[in-house]
Amino acid sequence: VTPFRLHGPLLSPVSEIEFRFFLRGVVAVGGDGRIAYSGPEPDLPEYAAALPRRESPGLLLPGFIDLHTHLPQYNARGRCGASLLEWLDRHIYPEEIRFADASYAREVSKHFFRALAASGTTTAAVYCSAHAEAARTAFEEAERSRLRIILGRTLMDRNAPPELVETPATSLREDEELISHWHRRTERLWCAVTPRFAPSCSMELMRGAARLAERHGCYVQTHVNESPAEIARARELFPELGSYTEVYETAGLLGERTLLAHNIHATESELDLCERTACAVVHCPEANLFLGSGRFPLKKYRNRTIRYGLGSDVGAGTTLFMPQIMRSMAWVQQENLHPFIPLYRATAGAAEALSLERNIGALDTGLCADMIAMRCDLETGEDAELSAEDAASAVVYRSQPSDILAVWVAGEQVFSSA
Ligand code: GUN
Ligand code: FE
Repeated sequence: VTPFRLHGPLLSPVSEIEFRFFLRGVVAVGGDGRIAYSGPEPDLPEYAAALPRRESPGLLLPGFIDLHTHLPQYNARGRCGASLLEWLDRHIYPEEIRFADASYAREVSKHFFRALAASGTTTAAVYCSAHAEAARTAFEEAERSRLRIILGRTLMDRNAPPELVETPATSLREDEELISHWHRRTERLWCAVTPRFAPSCSMELMRGAARLAERHGCYVQTHVNESPAEIARARELFPELGSYTEVYETAGLLGERTLLAHNIHATESELDLCERTACAVVHCPEANLFLGSGRFPLKKYRNRTIRYGLGSDVGAGTTLFMPQIMRSMAWVQQENLHPFIPLYRATAGAAEALSLERNIGALDTGLCADMIAMRCDLETGEDAELSAEDAASAVVYRSQPSDILAVWVAGEQVFSSA
């Protein structure tokens, strides 16, 4: 990219309890797409001051990271009136079946990645449908979007409509092909081996998926401990194993590159297992509220070293706009959550969950220039000096999708509202 410096208010995470904020800040982007300087205007070093100057249209933040979302459910958002397993049968599987039609898959994929960028999300972990052709289409559109995308075909070999199930041999062969072509094809693309969840996968399929991920260094993504009925079904199908999480451990699916969505009803011994295997958890509060699945035990995670971040979980979540997911995180806790906590979980905390914290998640010198400019109501209502907390509150609790004004990935602009 052409190097430049962007002047404007700047907010960036340091930890769950500390953010840097400069009302007059600068982010300088080098030719390698990385941040050459990020900080207050008066401290701007000479090499950065030499770059062409631009004004930011809004508050500068790291791009949001969505750790869990379903592309083929984009058009099925907000179909209410059922708990998880009925909702899948009644609303979700029929919509995913439509992705056998490659032109429908193309249209939704284009729309989905455009909507992600317009929402200020620069990195996302995404589930496709089970169809190999639709997955190739999704990868093509992901590449075209210039976003950072982790993508996997949703694997099932039982307890789902016949249009969506495959034998383990077919699944693994098709995934192998997809991975050879797309995994790390560009800096910005990754494959995720994606067994949907234990109720729709045999041990044979999950074992094969784990070996495939291991062999190619892919991510693994799946669902766990989302709703009581789902947990009961997993236990029925694997009665010889001690817990739902143990099913995945036995399959070899748990490791540093594993993203476990939900995990809201985990027992202490399951949380021990997550800690021991270093897998990451994705909290999807909007989806949990929408389906009435239960409440994320935030306090239990506070005493643990488990990495976790936020996911929209569209279509159980109704939006890709991460500030709404951040808000939902607070509503679920039924306490007045400090805005740093959810904002961290959709930026630097999520980057850690992906082991990408040395590349993304904050506007720090040396990281990739994945950033957004957001229209922000930065009024404090008095003469008080504006703090990082005020700016974070505006983002988390007072923003809407149309406030996303500009989005860059590695210094390259991928969205503008203008
Ligand atoms: N569990 C298995 N599949 C799904 C899905 O598509 N959405 C959600 N929220 N939970 C799941
Ligand atoms: Fe999901």
